[in-house]
Parts: sequence; C-alpha cells; structure tokens
Amino acid sequence: MSAKQKNITQDIPQHVAIIMDGNGRWAKKRGKLRTFGHEHGVKAVRDTVEIAAEKGIKYLTLFAFSTENWKRPKFEVDTLMSLLVKSIHDEMPTLMKNNIILRAIGDIESLEKNCRKQLTSAIEQTSKNTGMTLVLALSYSSRWELTEACRKIAVEVQKGNILPHQITESTVQSFLTTNSIPDPELLIRTSGEYRISNFLLWQIAYSELYYTPKLWPDFGKEDFLEAIENFKQRERRFGLTSEQIK
Ligand code: FPP
Repeated sequence: MSAKQKNITQDIPQHVAIIMDGNGRWAKKRGKLRTFGHEHGVKAVRDTVEIAAEKGIKYLTLFAFSTENWKRPKFEVDTLMSLLVKSIHDEMPTLMKNNIILRAIGDIESLEKNCRKQLTSAIEQTSKNTGMTLVLALSYSSRWELTEACRKIAVEVQKGNILPHQITESTVQSFLTTNSIPDPELLIRTSGEYRISNFLLWQIAYSELYYTPKLWPDFGKEDFLEAIENFKQRERRFGLTSEQIK
C-alpha cells in the first residue's frame, strides 16, 4: 500500500538539498559551449531560491562546485568562478530584501581570492538576516569533509580533549562543515542521473531522494513544487516499521 493510500502526508521539508546537473548537456543540445549552460543555470538558481523562500523552506543547499570540478578545463572553471562572483554581487539586494542568510560549505580556502572575498563579504552582510539559509556547496565533496573531520578529531584526541571512547555520532557531526544545519529531508538531482556524486554522504542517511530528467537550466518553480508535493506523500520510517510510525 502506498503512503498516499494510507493517508500519510509529510510537512514540507525544512531542508532541501539540490544537485544541479545538466548545464553542459543543455548547452550542447543548442550547439553552444558548456559555459552557456552554466550562465542559464543562474536563472534556475534564482527561481529556486525564490520559490523555496516563499514556501517557507528553512535551508536550501545547492551543490554549485565540487572538489572534482577543479579538474574541468580551465576556461570552464574560470567561467564558473566569475559567474559565482557576479551572481553573489548581483543578488545581494535580493538576498537582503528577502531576509536570506548566505552560508558556504566546502574548502573555501581553495577558492581564488576575489571569489573568496565576495563570498565572505556576502556571508557577513547577510549574517543578521533571519529568514531562509541558502547554503552554497563550493569546492565541496563529502569525502573531503569527512577526512577533514577525522583529522580535526584526531588533533583533539592527541591534545587529550577527547578520549577515543567518547567519540559519538554527535562528535563527528560537530566537526562537519554542516554542523549547525539540520540534515536535508529531501535531496533533488536534475538531469536524469541517479547518483549522489560525493555530496553530503553523512547528512543524507535518511533523506528522501527525488530525481527529475529536467536539465538544470530548465528546472523551474513548478518543478521544485512538484518535488515538494512528491516528498509530502513519502512514508519516512527511519528504520522502524510502518505500524510503529503511525
Ligand atoms: C552541473 O552541470 C553544474 C555545475 C557543475 C555548476 C552549477 C553552477 C551554476 C548553476 C551556476 C552558478 C551557481 C550559483 C550558485 C550562482 P554539468 O556541467 O555537470 O552538466 P552536464 O552533466 O550536462 O555536463
């Protein structure tokens, strides 16, 4: 019996994470450079942020640049970095107007100076806002994050601040870049790929996964709403039985 038949409905998720995929293919279909797809992806980012804030989502995390993306052709990496700097600059008034807090997760130190400066300044300027938190995953990969967490915990053990037997799931969680952010209840991936691609591996342990064939630049507000509606019909059991959660 489906969750719908059982009349189970979830509230809207408080945290939605998105793997924005398909910019390159979108551009290729039009006989253009991959960067053309990234440029058009910015509009989908704007629309998604707008509708998520409007719907009362508390956290929206966007996978904007992975650790692995550094290996792409230099022109593409440079374009993505410029787009990021430009978008943050252009969207500042909208972020302020909509009371949105900007945060970043990932190896921020590895970003080029100008990009880091723009990002840090935007994070600082929006830090007093009280609305939705927009989390940009930049130079991020889950394995990088977990390795960093292990290293930091090892340092604390070495200093005698933590004993090995005191390490719990909460300890690990507290050393992740997402430490004060609740786990996403919903993970959306566009472009018809069924992969996680090194994104939030720890945090998505119990997330509902939603895949859409839409390429990211075509992903609109109605697609976001469809994903939310789909989520609301899911039965989330967290390892329990259907009867136990009733
Ligand atoms: C994946 O498509 C997309 C990216 C690697 C970058 C996403 C970046 C943006 C949407 C633009 C700027 C972002 C912000 C937050 C302002 P792909 O290139 O892997 O596409 P493909 O799988 O079709 O090759």
